[in-house]
Amino acid sequence: MARRKKIYEGKAKILYEGPEPGTIVQYFKDDATAFNAQKKDVIEGKGVLNNRLSEFFMVGLADVGVPTHFLRRLNMREQLVRACEIIPLEIIVRNFAAGSMSQRLGIEEGTRLPRPIVEYCFKDDSLGDPLVSEEHILAFNWATQQDLDDIIHLALRVNDFLSGVMRGVGIRLVDFKIEVGRVYEGDFQRLVVADEISPDSCRLWDIETGEKLDKDVFRRDLGNLTDAYTEVAKRLGVLPKTNGPAKPRLIN
Ligand code: TMP
Repeated sequence: MARRKKIYEGKAKILYEGPEPGTIVQYFKDDATAFNAQKKDVIEGKGVLNNRLSEFFMVGLADVGVPTHFLRRLNMREQLVRACEIIPLEIIVRNFAAGSMSQRLGIEEGTRLPRPIVEYCFKDDSLGDPLVSEEHILAFNWATQQDLDDIIHLALRVNDFLSGVMRGVGIRLVDFKIEVGRVYEGDFQRLVVADEISPDSCRLWDIETGEKLDKDVFRRDLGNLTDAYTEVAKRLGVLPKTNGPAKPRLIN
Protein backbone atom coordinates (compact mmCIF):
# COMPACT_ATOMS: atom_id res chain seq x y z
CA MET A 1 0.00 0.00 0.00
CA ALA A 2 1.25 3.50 -0.84
CA ARG A 3 2.65 5.48 2.08
CA ARG A 4 0.41 8.35 3.15
CA LYS A 5 1.74 11.85 3.15
CA LYS A 6 2.14 13.32 6.61
CA ILE A 7 1.00 16.95 6.68
CA TYR A 8 1.65 17.86 10.29
CA GLU A 9 2.51 16.25 13.60
CA GLY A 10 1.26 17.91 16.77
CA LYS A 11 1.56 16.92 20.42
CA ALA A 12 -1.45 14.59 20.46
CA LYS A 13 -2.32 14.04 16.80
CA ILE A 14 -0.84 13.46 13.35
CA LEU A 15 -2.52 14.77 10.21
CA TYR A 16 -2.22 12.88 6.93
CA GLU A 17 -3.43 13.76 3.46
CA GLY A 18 -6.92 12.26 3.05
CA PRO A 19 -8.12 9.90 0.31
CA GLU A 20 -10.04 12.64 -1.55
CA PRO A 21 -9.05 16.26 -2.19
CA GLY A 22 -10.14 18.51 0.66
CA THR A 23 -9.98 15.74 3.25
CA ILE A 24 -7.51 14.99 6.01
CA VAL A 25 -6.99 11.94 8.21
CA GLN A 26 -6.57 12.78 11.91
CA TYR A 27 -4.60 10.12 13.80
CA PHE A 28 -4.92 10.25 17.61
CA LYS A 29 -1.68 9.41 19.43
CA ASP A 30 -1.35 8.13 22.99
CA ASP A 31 1.04 10.97 23.85
CA ALA A 32 0.03 13.30 26.65
CA THR A 33 1.75 16.62 27.25
CA ALA A 34 1.20 19.48 29.65
CA PHE A 35 2.73 22.88 30.40
CA ASN A 36 3.72 23.33 26.75
CA ALA A 37 5.21 19.85 26.58
CA GLN A 38 7.48 20.29 29.61
CA LYS A 39 5.66 17.27 31.07
CA LYS A 40 5.26 14.27 28.75
CA ASP A 41 4.09 10.69 28.90
CA VAL A 42 2.53 8.00 26.78
CA ILE A 43 -0.86 6.96 28.14
CA GLU A 44 -1.88 3.68 26.59
CA GLY A 45 -5.33 3.85 25.04
CA LYS A 46 -5.77 7.63 25.30
CA GLY A 47 -5.76 8.11 21.51
CA VAL A 48 -8.44 5.46 21.01
CA LEU A 49 -10.67 7.06 23.67
CA ASN A 50 -10.21 10.59 22.32
CA ASN A 51 -10.94 9.46 18.75
CA ARG A 52 -14.25 7.95 19.92
CA LEU A 53 -15.16 10.82 22.25
CA SER A 54 -14.36 13.52 19.70
CA GLU A 55 -16.49 11.64 17.14
CA PHE A 56 -19.33 11.48 19.67
CA PHE A 57 -19.23 15.24 20.39
CA MET A 58 -18.76 16.32 16.75
CA VAL A 59 -21.63 14.11 15.53
CA GLY A 60 -23.83 15.45 18.35
CA LEU A 61 -22.96 19.03 17.43
CA ALA A 62 -23.81 18.42 13.76
CA ASP A 63 -27.13 16.93 14.92
CA VAL A 64 -28.06 20.23 16.57
CA GLY A 65 -26.89 22.27 13.58
CA VAL A 66 -23.41 23.30 14.67
CA PRO A 67 -21.04 22.85 11.71
CA THR A 68 -17.86 20.84 12.32
CA HIS A 69 -14.99 19.49 10.24
CA PHE A 70 -15.84 15.88 11.12
CA LEU A 71 -16.75 13.50 8.28
CA ARG A 72 -16.46 9.97 9.68
CA ARG A 73 -14.42 7.74 11.92
CA LEU A 74 -12.16 5.41 9.95
CA ASN A 75 -10.84 3.07 12.62
CA MET A 76 -9.76 2.92 16.27
CA ARG A 77 -7.33 5.81 16.00
CA GLU A 78 -8.27 7.71 12.86
CA GLN A 79 -11.04 9.93 11.61
CA LEU A 80 -11.65 11.63 8.29
CA VAL A 81 -12.19 15.39 8.51
CA ARG A 82 -12.63 18.26 6.08
CA ALA A 83 -9.49 20.19 5.36
CA CYS A 84 -9.83 23.71 6.70
CA GLU A 85 -7.73 26.75 7.35
CA ILE A 86 -7.27 26.81 11.10
CA ILE A 87 -7.68 30.25 12.65
CA PRO A 88 -4.60 30.62 14.89
CA LEU A 89 -6.58 30.94 18.11
CA GLU A 90 -7.47 28.65 20.98
CA ILE A 91 -10.99 29.63 21.99
CA ILE A 92 -11.71 28.91 25.63
CA VAL A 93 -15.15 29.01 27.23
CA ARG A 94 -15.38 28.97 31.01
CA ASN A 95 -18.45 28.32 33.16
CA PHE A 96 -16.59 27.94 36.46
CA ALA A 97 -13.23 29.39 37.46
CA ALA A 98 -10.33 26.94 37.21
CA GLY A 99 -6.81 26.56 35.90
CA SER A 100 -5.14 29.64 34.46
CA MET A 101 -8.13 31.89 35.15
CA SER A 102 -8.05 31.03 38.85
CA GLN A 103 -4.32 31.69 38.91
CA ARG A 104 -4.52 34.94 36.97
CA LEU A 105 -7.46 36.47 38.81
CA GLY A 106 -7.23 34.80 42.21
CA ILE A 107 -10.70 33.24 41.98
CA GLU A 108 -11.08 29.94 43.82
CA GLU A 109 -11.37 26.92 41.52
CA GLY A 110 -14.98 25.81 41.17
CA THR A 111 -16.52 29.27 41.64
CA ARG A 112 -19.45 29.66 39.23
CA LEU A 113 -18.85 32.58 36.88
CA PRO A 114 -21.61 35.20 36.46
CA ARG A 115 -21.94 34.07 32.84
CA PRO A 116 -19.92 31.98 30.39
CA ILE A 117 -16.69 33.83 29.62
CA VAL A 118 -14.94 33.46 26.26
CA GLU A 119 -11.16 33.92 26.11
CA TYR A 120 -8.69 33.71 23.23
CA CYS A 121 -5.12 32.47 23.19
CA PHE A 122 -2.81 32.98 20.21
CA LYS A 123 -1.87 29.51 18.94
CA ASP A 124 1.91 29.55 19.08
CA ASP A 125 3.77 26.92 21.09
CA SER A 126 7.03 28.87 21.02
CA LEU A 127 5.23 31.66 22.92
CA GLY A 128 3.25 29.27 25.17
CA ASP A 129 -0.13 30.17 23.58
CA PRO A 130 -0.48 33.61 25.23
CA LEU A 131 -3.86 35.09 26.17
CA VAL A 132 -4.86 37.82 23.70
CA SER A 133 -7.73 40.28 23.35
CA GLU A 134 -10.05 41.05 20.42
CA GLU A 135 -7.89 44.11 19.80
CA HIS A 136 -4.82 41.95 19.16
CA ILE A 137 -6.79 39.58 16.95
CA LEU A 138 -8.17 42.39 14.78
CA ALA A 139 -4.99 44.49 14.69
CA PHE A 140 -2.80 41.54 13.69
CA ASN A 141 -5.42 40.22 11.25
CA TRP A 142 -5.70 36.75 12.79
CA ALA A 143 -9.47 37.01 12.24
CA THR A 144 -12.00 39.64 11.18
CA GLN A 145 -14.77 41.18 13.29
CA GLN A 146 -17.25 39.00 11.39
CA ASP A 147 -15.13 35.91 12.18
CA LEU A 148 -15.08 36.87 15.87
CA ASP A 149 -18.87 37.29 15.94
CA ASP A 150 -19.21 33.84 14.32
CA ILE A 151 -16.59 32.34 16.68
CA ILE A 152 -18.41 33.58 19.80
CA HIS A 153 -21.71 32.27 18.45
CA LEU A 154 -20.16 28.86 17.68
CA ALA A 155 -18.33 28.69 21.03
CA LEU A 156 -21.47 29.46 23.04
CA ARG A 157 -23.52 26.94 21.08
CA VAL A 158 -20.84 24.30 21.74
CA ASN A 159 -20.95 25.31 25.42
CA ASP A 160 -24.73 24.87 25.65
CA PHE A 161 -24.60 21.52 23.88
CA LEU A 162 -21.65 20.10 25.81
CA SER A 163 -22.87 21.40 29.18
CA GLY A 164 -26.25 19.73 28.64
CA VAL A 165 -24.82 16.43 27.43
CA MET A 166 -22.35 16.27 30.32
CA ARG A 167 -24.92 17.31 32.91
CA GLY A 168 -27.12 14.43 31.71
CA VAL A 169 -24.41 11.98 32.82
CA GLY A 170 -23.59 13.69 36.11
CA ILE A 171 -20.58 15.67 34.89
CA ARG A 172 -19.98 19.41 35.19
CA LEU A 173 -18.45 21.15 32.17
CA VAL A 174 -16.10 23.56 33.94
CA ASP A 175 -14.40 24.88 30.79
CA PHE A 176 -13.17 23.78 27.38
CA LYS A 177 -11.10 24.82 24.39
CA ILE A 178 -12.04 24.64 20.73
CA GLU A 179 -10.34 25.52 17.50
CA VAL A 180 -12.20 26.90 14.53
CA GLY A 181 -11.39 26.46 10.84
CA ARG A 182 -12.40 28.18 7.65
CA VAL A 183 -13.88 26.09 4.83
CA TYR A 184 -14.56 27.37 1.35
CA GLU A 185 -17.68 26.42 -0.59
CA GLY A 186 -17.63 28.04 -4.02
CA ASP A 187 -17.67 31.80 -3.48
CA PHE A 188 -18.61 31.38 0.16
CA GLN A 189 -16.65 30.60 3.26
CA ARG A 190 -17.84 29.59 6.69
CA LEU A 191 -16.37 28.67 10.02
CA VAL A 192 -16.58 25.18 11.48
CA VAL A 193 -15.53 23.60 14.76
CA ALA A 194 -12.25 21.79 14.03
CA ASP A 195 -9.43 19.91 15.80
CA GLU A 196 -10.91 17.75 18.59
CA ILE A 197 -13.26 17.89 21.54
CA SER A 198 -12.15 15.44 24.20
CA PRO A 199 -11.19 15.28 27.88
CA ASP A 200 -7.77 16.57 26.73
CA SER A 201 -9.41 19.90 25.90
CA CYS A 202 -12.15 20.17 28.55
CA ARG A 203 -12.37 20.29 32.33
CA LEU A 204 -14.92 17.74 33.48
CA TRP A 205 -15.80 17.27 37.16
CA ASP A 206 -18.16 14.70 38.63
CA ILE A 207 -21.15 16.74 39.86
CA GLU A 208 -21.54 14.74 43.09
CA THR A 209 -17.97 14.13 44.16
CA GLY A 210 -16.00 16.81 42.28
CA GLU A 211 -13.68 14.08 40.97
CA LYS A 212 -11.68 15.29 37.96
CA LEU A 213 -12.29 13.29 34.77
CA ASP A 214 -10.06 15.23 32.36
CA LYS A 215 -6.43 15.97 31.53
CA ASP A 216 -5.88 17.67 34.90
CA VAL A 217 -5.54 14.08 36.21
CA PHE A 218 -2.29 13.96 34.21
CA ARG A 219 -1.27 17.62 34.66
CA ARG A 220 -1.64 17.39 38.45
CA ASP A 221 -0.74 13.69 39.00
CA LEU A 222 -4.16 12.82 40.38
CA GLY A 223 -4.36 9.19 39.23
CA ASN A 224 -4.89 7.12 36.12
CA LEU A 225 -5.82 9.17 33.05
CA THR A 226 -7.15 6.25 31.00
CA ASP A 227 -9.50 5.30 33.86
CA ALA A 228 -10.84 8.87 33.98
CA TYR A 229 -11.44 9.06 30.20
CA THR A 230 -12.95 5.56 30.19
CA GLU A 231 -15.40 6.68 32.88
CA VAL A 232 -16.50 9.63 30.70
CA ALA A 233 -16.86 7.37 27.65
CA LYS A 234 -18.88 4.78 29.58
CA ARG A 235 -21.25 7.35 31.04
CA LEU A 236 -21.88 8.77 27.57
CA GLY A 237 -22.55 5.29 26.19
CA VAL A 238 -19.54 5.60 23.87
CA LEU A 239 -18.10 2.44 25.43
CA PRO A 240 -20.17 -0.40 26.84
CA LYS A 241 -20.84 0.08 30.58
CA THR A 242 -19.67 -3.48 31.27
CA ASN A 243 -16.27 -4.72 30.24
CA GLY A 244 -17.78 -5.98 26.99
CA PRO A 245 -18.36 -9.55 25.96
CA ALA A 246 -16.61 -12.11 28.11
CA LYS A 247 -13.29 -13.21 26.64
CA PRO A 248 -13.44 -16.74 25.22
CA ARG A 249 -12.15 -19.15 27.83
CA LEU A 250 -9.14 -21.18 26.97
CA ILE A 251 -9.68 -24.86 27.36
CA ASN A 252 -6.55 -26.71 28.32
P1 TMP B 1 -6.37 26.80 31.24
O1 TMP B 1 -7.19 27.02 32.48
O2 TMP B 1 -5.10 26.06 31.49
O3 TMP B 1 -6.17 28.07 30.46
O4 TMP B 1 -7.23 25.85 30.30
C1 TMP B 1 -8.54 26.18 29.89
C2 TMP B 1 -9.14 25.04 29.10
O5 TMP B 1 -8.44 24.86 27.89
C3 TMP B 1 -9.09 23.69 29.79
O6 TMP B 1 -10.31 23.03 29.55
C4 TMP B 1 -7.98 22.95 29.16
C5 TMP B 1 -7.94 23.53 27.77
N1 TMP B 1 -6.59 23.62 27.25
C6 TMP B 1 -6.27 23.00 26.06
O7 TMP B 1 -7.13 22.35 25.44
N2 TMP B 1 -5.01 23.14 25.57
C7 TMP B 1 -4.05 23.83 26.19
O8 TMP B 1 -2.93 23.92 25.69
C8 TMP B 1 -4.38 24.48 27.45
C9 TMP B 1 -3.35 25.26 28.19
C10 TMP B 1 -5.66 24.34 27.91
